[in-house]
Amino acid sequence: MDKFVVRGGNPLRGKIEIGGAKNSALPCLAATLLTEETVILHNVPYVKDLITQRRLLEDLGATVLTPELRTHKVNARNVAIYEAPYELVKTMRASVLALGPLLARFGQAKVSLPGGCAIGTRPIDLHLKAFEQLGATVSLESGDVVARAPKGRLVGAEIDFEKVTVTGTENVMMAAALASGRTTIRNAAQEPEIEDLADLLNKMGARIRGAGTPVMEIDGVESLGGAEHTIIPDRIETGTFMVAAAITGGELEIKSCRPAHLNAVISKLREAGVEIEELNSSTLLVRQGSAGLVARDVTTEPHPLFPTDMQAQYMALMTQAEGTSTITETIFENRFMHASELIRMGADIHVSGNTAVVHGKTQLMGAPIIASDLRASASLVLAALCAEGETVIERVYHIDRGYETIVRKLRSLGADIERITESSVTAEEAAAV
Ligand code: UD1
Repeated sequence: MDKFVVRGGNPLRGKIEIGGAKNSALPCLAATLLTEETVILHNVPYVKDLITQRRLLEDLGATVLTPELRTHKVNARNVAIYEAPYELVKTMRASVLALGPLLARFGQAKVSLPGGCAIGTRPIDLHLKAFEQLGATVSLESGDVVARAPKGRLVGAEIDFEKVTVTGTENVMMAAALASGRTTIRNAAQEPEIEDLADLLNKMGARIRGAGTPVMEIDGVESLGGAEHTIIPDRIETGTFMVAAAITGGELEIKSCRPAHLNAVISKLREAGVEIEELNSSTLLVRQGSAGLVARDVTTEPHPLFPTDMQAQYMALMTQAEGTSTITETIFENRFMHASELIRMGADIHVSGNTAVVHGKTQLMGAPIIASDLRASASLVLAALCAEGETVIERVYHIDRGYETIVRKLRSLGADIERITESSVTAEEAAAV
């Protein structure tokens, strides 16, 4: 398995381009299953999860062309299999996003139940309950979820999510787009990725209103057509580079981003002493303020509040802030696995239940550490960039799931980081990351 070797201490300086949002490209690729016509998606990030999602589409019978590296041209006319196998679902939970479109277009779908995952059990009960409300029968057969629309077509319904769920909202949006009649989704997720998916679906001929608010209305249509769409910038990659600038005491111009999608992160980082200038609607200039970093508490919440996907990176930053900060994780159980690795590097962190208390500032020291999930990996890289000495990070395949060419990007900004390639990864694949 590949590792990163990081020698910390270099302030990162320069300009960096943000890629397309992984969490938007995943549902948008799934949405291509809703039509016989060709859908062209631009700005699809070249990361492992998207390679997996593409493979899923191809396994189902779709044709996926990539005329350019980040453009996917998908035609799902000949889809003849309605099943996402365990082999794929176990590596990427977002394969459940195939359920809604398959069920809506073909009246049947089978998706392996996602197993336990590193950041908690992550059930899909809310997706399944919503499909039942849309008229589907849902059963569990040998570890697979089997859903059928008895008369071949789903029927619009009132869906009131008891908990905000991002992929659950997306699955219902896609299913309801082809259902008969009106679907109302209450307590819908409001993430920018929801709006991006709604934009694509509306370009395909769907009738969706209210995306980005807690109440959405979807008037089902008979069929959807082709469309061309550009995926929004990745707000979590943006936030990660903002922290990279601040934690290393450098200065980064972050380009091709969408600051409006990061209001909660920007205001929290400013409170903590990070200077952030919005040079224009897609460029941020970020540096640590002259007074240094100060501890500030944070609680993760659904959008538009502070995202759970930035919690690990923020914890790394707080190890470098003066004072005590409390970090409360309300979205996922068991999402503090990075804390024990940061402690191995010398951080003073106490975890109790869903709360971590960080006492700063501590000089982090290089150590051998292990990445446990995607965002935890990012936090460990950030910590290593400001640590004294050499850090070896194992299991970096997690970071490959969601950060495009992270090593190359960080090196271009002055970081001393290299990837040690072992095992089955080819030199070509390694160079791409
Ligand atoms: C998405 C994002 C992930 C992000 C998360 C929260 C994608 C591909 N992934 O994940 O990066 O961290 O949103 O912002 O977009 N829940 C249930 N039952 C369900 C569904 C969810 O109890 O049927 C719970 C989850 O366990 C969790 C909470 O609801 O506690 C939110 O999960 P959800 O928003 O569904 O996360 P994902 O869509 O999987």
